[in-house]
Amino acid sequence: MKILGIEHIGIAVNDLDTNAPFWKHILNIQHRSTEVVEDQGVTTDIYDTGQGKVELLEATDSDTPIGKFIQKRGPGVHHVCFEVDDITKAIIELKESYIQILSDEPTVGAEGYKAVFIHPKSTGGVLVELAEKL
Ligand code: CO
Repeated sequence: MKILGIEHIGIAVNDLDTNAPFWKHILNIQHRSTEVVEDQGVTTDIYDTGQGKVELLEATDSDTPIGKFIQKRGPGVHHVCFEVDDITKAIIELKESYIQILSDEPTVGAEGYKAVFIHPKSTGGVLVELAEKL
């Protein structure tokens, strides 16, 4: 697989109204979009530095992946996303190397990217997302 760069850092927050102003007004990073990803139960609020984005993640419900993450570990860095040239090829290569991925098929995430998550067990403790832009 070919890694093209860091696409974004995903940060789990309790409340976008409280936390988003830091990224938008203090760091002054350009706001790009806010989007509800229904099947993941999350509202994503995306800021673009021009060289990698910040993706704030607020759970729509406590019984969602982000809701559970916050209950277990509190708000904070949730995942790091790398852009890849070909997600299907990346999945095949990961499986060949016995890397634990969370789904066999890419899912469509925020901004319509095709994405797959790699289990922290396989990476040294960090949830890693690979994404192919369409
Ligand atoms: Co992400």
